[in-house]
Amino acid sequence: MGKAIAQSFAAEGAKLILSGRDQERGEKLSDQLSGSIFIVGDVGEASYNESLVDAALENFGAVDILSLNAGILGLGNVVDLSESLWNQTISTNLSSIYLLAKFAIPHLKKQSGTILINSSIAAFKSFPNHPAYCASKAGAVALMKQMAVEYAPEIRVNAICPGPVDTPLLWKSAKAFDNPEEAVADAEKSTLLKRLGQPKDIANLALFLVSEEASWITGTAMTIDGGILNA
Ligand SMILES: NC(=O)c1ccc[n+]([C@@H]2O[C@H](COP(=O)([O-])OP(=O)(O)OC[C@H]3O[C@@H](n4cnc5c(N)ncnc54)[C@H](OP(=O)(O)O)[C@@H]3O)[C@@H](O)[C@H]2O)c1
Repeated sequence: MGKAIAQSFAAEGAKLILSGRDQERGEKLSDQLSGSIFIVGDVGEASYNESLVDAALENFGAVDILSLNAGILGLGNVVDLSESLWNQTISTNLSSIYLLAKFAIPHLKKQSGTILINSSIAAFKSFPNHPAYCASKAGAVALMKQMAVEYAPEIRVNAICPGPVDTPLLWKSAKAFDNPEEAVADAEKSTLLKRLGQPKDIANLALFLVSEEASWITGTAMTIDGGILNA
């Protein structure tokens, strides 16, 4: 989803700092998006987040938009889940939002900027063997609301909460179910719109929420799930 969002932002002329842990994959995307810069690192580390903000300031002179998409599942029930995987999941999915926002907000304020967090319907609903994931995603929504209140009116802060989207993460998530293939097919059937989401569906909403067209939207956690939460 981060890739699809980056592609749609770039198509509108955004200059991008791209982040991820995989140098080769990141550079391949950066080569496709003119003017973008990929910086390899772990979003759970404070110094990496600071370097992302510094790179935007040095290369582009400003930070207007944060789009936060990094996520891992940290599968395992509370009893079996290791403390280290719990910590890694909270660090990647939640602390990363605090860290990037911490370094970027003073600069976003000058630009009337915006923050868009990729949470999940897991913020509102439990899934088997997903306690760390669900807790991190609910935390992301709470942090979004907190920042929306604290930094209004200069900065708009919103979250998107996708349902099942056809990405590598969805298939990893399905492994937490007895029959993964069946779990994905069931998820697809359970959407009111009878299909999985595609990364482009999420990118379309992301582009709208960071645009001027959404200038009166802040503090919201918008589900984009083919209707599955209402099924
Ligand atoms: N797919 C779904 O059904 C679904 C539904 C709701 C919400 N979401 C959320 O949507 C977001 C995007 O997920 P996706 O479905 O597009 O999955 P994905 O293809 O697995 O993408 C997740 C990305 O996070 C990056 N990442 C993970 N840990 C990182 C770390 N420590 N530092 C830097 N980057 C890290 C990975 O990049 P590298 O491997 O290059 O580091 C990867 O590209 C996630 O937050 C996910 O929780 C997904």
